[in-house]
Amino acid sequence: VDPRDGNRSPLRVALLGLGTVGKAVAQQLLDTAWRSGVAARGITPPELVAVGVRDPDRPRGLELPSAVRRTDALDDLVVDDGIDVVVELIGGLQPAGSLVGRALESGRHVVTGNKALLACEGHVLESAAREAGTALRFEASVAGGVPVLAPIVNDLAGNRIDAIRGIVNGTTNHILSAMAEDGRDYEDVLSEAQERGYAEADPSGDVEAWDAAYKLAILARLGFGEWPEATSLRRAAPAVVADAPAGITGVRTRELERAASLGLSIKLVARAERGRDGCSRASIMPVAVRGTSPLGSTGGVTNLVEVIAEPVGRVAFRGPGAGGRATSSAVLADLLAIARGEGSTWGPLPPAPSVTIPDDLDEEHSWFFVATSLVGAHTPPRLSEIALAADDEAFVTRPMALAAIRERLAPVDPSITIYPLLAEA
Ligand code: NDP
Ligand code: HSE
Repeated sequence: VDPRDGNRSPLRVALLGLGTVGKAVAQQLLDTAWRSGVAARGITPPELVAVGVRDPDRPRGLELPSAVRRTDALDDLVVDDGIDVVVELIGGLQPAGSLVGRALESGRHVVTGNKALLACEGHVLESAAREAGTALRFEASVAGGVPVLAPIVNDLAGNRIDAIRGIVNGTTNHILSAMAEDGRDYEDVLSEAQERGYAEADPSGDVEAWDAAYKLAILARLGFGEWPEATSLRRAAPAVVADAPAGITGVRTRELERAASLGLSIKLVARAERGRDGCSRASIMPVAVRGTSPLGSTGGVTNLVEVIAEPVGRVAFRGPGAGGRATSSAVLADLLAIARGEGSTWGPLPPAPSVTIPDDLDEEHSWFFVATSLVGAHTPPRLSEIALAADDEAFVTRPMALAAIRERLAPVDPSITIYPLLAEA
């Protein structure tokens, strides 16, 4: 495609899914002002020619012109000769996976925001796209409307990426912020996140950190050249003895309050690092960070992705991490990139192997924890030796290994949840 060719035929788009994101994308594609703006920038605006949904007759608060075909025969739609690009906004592994695979294999480009599919089947889909010579683009899959994947591949191409970390789930950040700042109830804020279109169809994927793990896998593929097996990524909060529930489901309001009293915030942070041996390490868990740090001051649905690279240093990408309109920006950018002939999100990067990635909990950290049971007469004498900061029931330890803190706390209260303190954040 020659972007200077203003008379080129428009890309013919089939949109699968008319939910939160799909509807917002359709609205933009049909919007006259949006189309004129794209044309003014020298790109022929893509044409929405079909939508594929479960129930084509169900009213969706969206005026679709009669020229736009509606169908529930998605299997046929994705291989239709009248389609150039399939935009998959259904979510989940199936039928999305087979629809995307069929589209790619039959020579259609695909744009998707489906991080679950990419993290679990990305290496297979990448091979299919490479083999067929079609483009697979997925900017919307990480951090909603925040451009982060294409900049990692393109604008940071001259760097060695050493670490990627961030707040990549809007739902959980919205919940933690509202609980910490306004003392709101977990269930109440989760319902609000669902109403606003932030949460996944099954919100357990958000609160148990699967969604963040999927996004980290995609970031690692582009930053480190490996597709991590999503199920191998550690999603947990370390408890003293047993593993605490993964994600934010075990974070207590009391812990958020006591963290704030020590100038800390608890955030669900996903991070991956290039280890000394060349392998990446990764974890997705609630951690304590300084409240005034970039991570600590990122509230609500906002996402923040930091890339630490050589020679650039630290670069941050921040903005709306979920919601239909914000996310439509990333989907539309991918459509326009395809219209400009830019190929897949991985650009010139070579194919990536699928790998298992260890977590980083064996490294020494300072730890934050709240332990009402340890105060007063029950405070173990050896605890004062390791405390860097403390108030009546909240502690920050000096840097130490997980095993060492477990050994000190387990005999006293095995139910304590300890949070690694990201000192550099
Ligand atoms: P929704 O649940 O709001 O919408 C999903 C749409 O897909 C619905 O229209 C639904 O149909 C349709 N659908 C589901 N299953 C099928 C099926 N078997 N056949 C046909 N249609 C089907 O999801 P979102 O719009 O929120 O998310 C879509 C994708 O974008 C997901 O992969 C998500 O992870 C990703 N994403 C979402 C963001 C957000 O903020 N919401 C941000 C970034 C990415 P029906 O209307 O009939 O139920
Ligand atoms: N459920 C996701 C979130 C949507 O809350 O971040 C954006 O990927």
